[in-house]
Amino acid sequence: MTNLADYVFHNVPAQLSPLEEFLDPFTRAELDEIAPGAGARYLDLGAGGGSVTRMLSELAGETGQVTAIDQDTHMVAPGPNIDIHTQDLSTGEPLAAEGPFDLVHARLLTHHLENRVEFVHRLAGSLRPGGWLLLGEFVRSAPKVVSAPSEEHAAVFRRVLDGLYDVMTAKHTHGSWGHEVHRTMLDAGLTSVRTRWHFESWTGGGHGCRLFENNVSQKREVMIEAGIAAADIDFFLKDLMHNPDMVVRSHEFVSIRGRRD
Ligand SMILES: C[S@@+](CC[C@H](N)C(=O)[O-])C[C@H]1O[C@@H](n2cnc3c(N)ncnc32)[C@H](O)[C@@H]1O
Repeated sequence: MTNLADYVFHNVPAQLSPLEEFLDPFTRAELDEIAPGAGARYLDLGAGGGSVTRMLSELAGETGQVTAIDQDTHMVAPGPNIDIHTQDLSTGEPLAAEGPFDLVHARLLTHHLENRVEFVHRLAGSLRPGGWLLLGEFVRSAPKVVSAPSEEHAAVFRRVLDGLYDVMTAKHTHGSWGHEVHRTMLDAGLTSVRTRWHFESWTGGGHGCRLFENNVSQKREVMIEAGIAAADIDFFLKDLMHNPDMVVRSHEFVSIRGRRD
């Protein structure tokens, strides 16, 4: 049984393309430092639109292998060295693919899982000695406006984004989990654990505001039920996120990696 009803968003290009445009450069930079290269076994969990699966496939080459797992794999493109499995990762069942792996990657997945701490321990245990675990998460922070045409524009942005974050963290997702991953990797016995923070400023009409727009439009009805004014949400969607006079801070992203000795 999949967990699509529980998952906060639907996998659509309007969401995953701007997300990948934001995050792929950070993930690529990590992989440039730690990826074992050709011939290795890679695992991409919560593969989503498949951009990291493609990066790993290039690194693995003809002699290596990438396994991509998600509960919704319709956007993950196949390839000669790519195995794709559709699996709900929240159940505690064994992974659809067995280790050991040289590199395990999961971006914006583990905060959705109630069993996230145990899951990170399992991933650490699936690594070959010398293998890396690379996780990425958003950390909830107060919405920040860099510049806006008026204080009312800024106030609407903050109200709507806070409402979105409330909805995103209302189930078992967890706005501060990104802070805890570093400690969890250490507790799981990983070494060389390192966390890097990334955020950007985004202009109305640009790729980042398209991501905010898609996040809020997917959750519009739930946000209204939670008490956010429909007029605020619609102003956010129709004006703020397209207004080149709005400059706002992005979601805050942490990239955490650890190595098995
Ligand atoms: C925000 S998207 C991130 C996609 C991709 N990792 C990226 O960063 O571009 C989260 C992904 O996790 C998947 N996901 C969420 N809960 C899941 C679960 N319980 N089991 C398997 N996949 C899940 C979703 O289907 C989605 O593809």
